[in-house]
Amino acid sequence: MQRICVYPGSFDPVTAGHMDIIGRIVDMFDQVVVGVLNNAQKKTFFSVEQRINFLRQCTSDFDNVEIAYFDGMLVDFASQQNAKFIVRGLRAVSDFEYEFQMASVNKRLRPELETIFLMTRTRHSFLSSSIVRDVGRYGGDLSSMVPNQICKQLQHDLLRQQ
Ligand code: COA
Repeated sequence: MQRICVYPGSFDPVTAGHMDIIGRIVDMFDQVVVGVLNNAQKKTFFSVEQRINFLRQCTSDFDNVEIAYFDGMLVDFASQQNAKFIVRGLRAVSDFEYEFQMASVNKRLRPELETIFLMTRTRHSFLSSSIVRDVGRYGGDLSSMVPNQICKQLQHDLLRQQ
């Protein structure tokens, strides 16, 4: 049986921290489905198409990674994908409370689903999509914060929004 996981998030945009997690789980699962949240209630800077496009560029070297969007509950998306695992990255203790709550709700809703946490590498533990957007908006160097494949495009898109 295939071991399939879902790695969900807003990815607004994908960062080097997200790629650190993806790069490690590709060897742990047969199939990794990166689930991009498309929720009208959560306003994002990049459209869902742009966020998916960035992720596709960054994951094109992995043949067991698929990018898809979802707009309902995560547990339903995971079931649609035949995934038994949800993967989340933990950057710092401050992430724990929110992640604990989400994993507990998801367990209550769908007990057969397991949430697995990976520690984000310490060199990325300060990173977030909003930090990337903020640095990029003022023309700061994003090269260590985002994947190479999308760095130039992001610098351009974010600076334009000044
Ligand atoms: N490296 C760097 N940054 C990371 C990271 C990593 N490894 N992991 C998370 N982050 C950052 C993100 O960039 C984001 O930064 P920002 O707040 O500056 O934009 C922040 O951490 C939040 O990450 P994200 O994974 O995108 O969380 P989210 O809260 O936007 O989305 C979902 C989490 C999609 C899993 C959750 O909202 C969800 O399941 N929604 C569906 C509805 C549902 O099922 N609800 C019931 C269950 S609670």
